[in-house]
Amino acid sequence: MLNVVILAAGKGTRMQSNKPKVLHTLAGKSFLRHVIDRSLELRADKLFLVVGHGAELIEKEIGSEAGISYVEQKEQLGTGHAVLQVLPHLHADSIVLVLYGDVPLISSATLTRLIRQVDQRSLGLLTVTLDDPHGYGRVIRNQNGEVESVVEQKDADDKQTLITEVNTGVMAVPANDLHRWLPELSDQNAQREYLLPDIIAMARAEGKIIATAQPESVSETLGVNTRAQQAELERIYQSRLAKNYMDGGLTLMDPTRFDCRGSLTFGRDCLIDVNCVFEGEVVLGDRVEVGPNCHIIGSTIGDDAEIKSHSIIECAQLASEVTVGPFARLRPESILGKAAKIGNFVEIKKSTIGKGSKVNHLSYIGDADVGEAVNVGAGTITCNYDGANKFKTTIDDGVFVGSNTALVAPVTLGKNATIAAGSVITSHVKEGELSVARAKQRNVSGWKRPVKKT
Ligand code: UD1
Ligand code: CA
Repeated sequence: MLNVVILAAGKGTRMQSNKPKVLHTLAGKSFLRHVIDRSLELRADKLFLVVGHGAELIEKEIGSEAGISYVEQKEQLGTGHAVLQVLPHLHADSIVLVLYGDVPLISSATLTRLIRQVDQRSLGLLTVTLDDPHGYGRVIRNQNGEVESVVEQKDADDKQTLITEVNTGVMAVPANDLHRWLPELSDQNAQREYLLPDIIAMARAEGKIIATAQPESVSETLGVNTRAQQAELERIYQSRLAKNYMDGGLTLMDPTRFDCRGSLTFGRDCLIDVNCVFEGEVVLGDRVEVGPNCHIIGSTIGDDAEIKSHSIIECAQLASEVTVGPFARLRPESILGKAAKIGNFVEIKKSTIGKGSKVNHLSYIGDADVGEAVNVGAGTITCNYDGANKFKTTIDDGVFVGSNTALVAPVTLGKNATIAAGSVITSHVKEGELSVARAKQRNVSGWKRPVKKT
């Protein structure tokens, strides 16, 4: 049985924030959520979040979920004290994995390796060797290379300070051992705190084995204390993701200018130009090209689609061969049929655009059902809102809408209807009809322009 304890009671003073540190984000997701997700991958039976500073905010954001419990640590008296708060709730014969809520890049593969080494005779400690170990607890080994204890930076003597193998803070310990050791911790140390790593020496005194494991990459154990470190970890995360995607066959014009704050699924031979941001679940078919500076959120884009630069696509569904942009905005519930074309400075909202239809320039199409092979001229606006309610516009197959037309909803344009440019359409147009709804042109010959008074 696996019980996970995530320490998240600290304030995070150096973030200079009103928000608890663990709620700051990496790739659009809170640090704490990253750690929770890794724990869930381990199929932990129970997950305890030790909260203190900003506890209400954390509970509100993370919410209640099966298997997750919050345990309050009223005063932050140290990592040992934090785990002590969970003691009454731990399952008696579980292995307890301790994680930090501000170390978001830890991988479940590393954790699995650590846990596998632990049984009732041993304790697992994740260590890492750093070029600059300053600030970390040092791992003290004996002549046989066995771990004897962990000494905090502030308690270390000159010789111990030279040790470069450090405690990452991640530990896996049988619950029944914690029951014996945690109440015995003392705060007689430089920080006047109850230090969790002090249980290592207690374990050794009982003849237990300290099994150590190392992460695949040092970045897995990096904690965030400052905004600069947050940005650093964001880049590490993004470059790792970019590399994975490239290994999977995606062309990134520049992996250092790629941001995915969610997940990206892609078919073969897709290409993404620089400075694009992906959020939520984005799915690309085969041979999709995304131009520079696009923002794509929770959308599906079909084969051979082309998204030109500076386009924003949010919660939309695009069939194959569509062309969007440059400078287009597809808002939620936009559904584009095969080979539809949405051009520059066009906004589409909650509308279906049928196969092969075109809205090429400067238009707003909202709450509309547009059929196939429709041509919507430049500057066409669906007037879908009367200030109180929204109304629907229906444009049947083959309609031609002239430029600068206002379609005052609710209104229907029948199949193959033609709307003259500059019209304000307020009533239904039947199949095949031409509708001209504009002031008649009047030409005045011999017109004299006014002249400037002297
Ligand atoms: C800790 C380890 C150190 C290790 C380092 C790795 C201890 C005493 N030291 O030091 O050996 O090298 O991590 O990063 O464990 N927290 C609580 N309640 C508390 C105290 C802390 O929830 O009372 C949480 C913090 O919010 C944080 C985590 O525990 O997420 C670590 O605490 P922190 O004080 O930052 O430990 P370090 O000094 O970094
Ligand atoms: Ca500390």
